[in-house]
Amino acid sequence: MNEEQRKQQTQADDAGHKKAVKDKDYSQYFETTYAPPSLKQAKKRGKEDIEIHYDFDVPEDMQKIGEGKKFLIRTYGCQMNEHDSENMAGILMRMGFESTAVTEEADVILINTCAIRENAENKVFGEIGHLKNLKRDNPGLVIGVCGCMSQEESVVNRILQKHQQVDLIFGTHNIHRLPELLKNAIFGKEMVIEVWSKEGDIIENMPRARKGKIQGWVNIMYGCDKFCTYCIVPYTRGKERSRRPEDIIEEVRHLARSGYKEITLLGQNVNAYGKDLVDVNYGLGDLMDEIRKIDIPRVRFTTSHPRDFDDHLIEVLAKGGNLVEHIHLPVQSGNNQVLKLMARKYTRESYVELAAKIKQAIPHASFTTDIIVGFPNETEEQFEDTMSLVREMEYDSAFTYIYSPREGTPAANMQDNVPHEVKKERLARLNALVNDLSAEKNKSYAGQTMEVLVEGESKKNPDVLSGRTRTNRLVNFRGPKTSIGEIVYVKITDAKTWSLNGELVETAEVNN
Ligand code: 5AD
Ligand code: SF4
Repeated sequence: MNEEQRKQQTQADDAGHKKAVKDKDYSQYFETTYAPPSLKQAKKRGKEDIEIHYDFDVPEDMQKIGEGKKFLIRTYGCQMNEHDSENMAGILMRMGFESTAVTEEADVILINTCAIRENAENKVFGEIGHLKNLKRDNPGLVIGVCGCMSQEESVVNRILQKHQQVDLIFGTHNIHRLPELLKNAIFGKEMVIEVWSKEGDIIENMPRARKGKIQGWVNIMYGCDKFCTYCIVPYTRGKERSRRPEDIIEEVRHLARSGYKEITLLGQNVNAYGKDLVDVNYGLGDLMDEIRKIDIPRVRFTTSHPRDFDDHLIEVLAKGGNLVEHIHLPVQSGNNQVLKLMARKYTRESYVELAAKIKQAIPHASFTTDIIVGFPNETEEQFEDTMSLVREMEYDSAFTYIYSPREGTPAANMQDNVPHEVKKERLARLNALVNDLSAEKNKSYAGQTMEVLVEGESKKNPDVLSGRTRTNRLVNFRGPKTSIGEIVYVKITDAKTWSLNGELVETAEVNN
């Protein structure tokens, strides 16, 4: 979309929403610079071309705004948000700000939010509430709210009504507008709100302050077109847009040259990578096949949708090398009727078949998944199908969630006759099973020597180091601090439910 189209779009959105806001009459609370969101608008999938911009820079007159000032970004949610926060930190540093981890020291606090479940949203509102006192003591403090929650009109309205301490709201599509928006928030009197309900172009060269020098995130695509009926992501992150292969490869090469040991390719649905690139026939398999040749020890990717996981990708992953043998393959439910209501567009049988194909091609692959319990009207039998699938798949681990209705999604309109207590009890049963399987898997590693990328000191004991195997298992062991950031070999002595203990060995005779 070009600048003119964008302007028209924003104006159209504004017009629609200003009316909605006027209807509810929140204007009494605030004088605002107002470009608010609309989930309805965000649902639309247009055919406009996405433009790629390589010329981002912080305007000269904004490069000194932050001199002598500090910022803090609090990040909730997924790796995509973590990575967006790295971009925001990069921009703020280019504006002259310095980062701090001490809340009371900060002149700018950004809360990068997650909308995926209600409890994530509640945490954010709790945090915004806590900042009220800080703002009272330090009226110069600028509080910004960004990320997925900002894309929801209900959230923006609630902030307008109840959280006047907030100075700035922006969304997931206009992070590159941060310099301008922050300038307006610092120097203006009004609350600044600018949220684009329609996805923006791809901005390639935003400055980036990466967290750490061992592992790096690399975005390969933005957005999601799957519209699973429970999920808010296609609304908050817009339509699927792939970065150009050459831009991704250049970024990976740069990370390799800078000494990074592991990269994770990121997208809401990475298996759809390339589908929107009109001039080339190029998918995730092709991309991984090229990245495989770059001298970086480990390459991961997340998150997958079973529907788009094709044979070429499996073939490429089976070549191994730096492509690690860990597959995160969200299943959500083991029951076909529930999968249909979720609009997942695969069956239990086709999922198991795909997993078998992957296991055959990559025999030592570890499998992890995401599961939702208590989808509207889920019966005990349907839940038992999920339990039996987990037993059948013998997952190495799983992220498990109670279904949370998200306003604006189709599932939120479904009648639900399952009491919350029943959902909680099902989650507990599922978690017990997942834990048993993980403990069982871990036991089977005892006595084996594993390749471990040392990430740092263990969170529980600074005398112990911790790192991960290629299959993403957490390993704790004693060793010199100089090995942090290196790949070492560890013989497993003891297995816990969620981690392994071991001792450093010289040999490279590895079992994993
Ligand atoms: N309720 C509960 N869990 C959800 N997820 C996505 N949307 C919801 C929701 N409304 C889970 C899915 C997804 C993971 C990232 O979050 O399992 O794979
Ligand atoms: Fe949400 Fe993932 Fe489904 Fe996309 S594929 S709608 S991000 S659960």
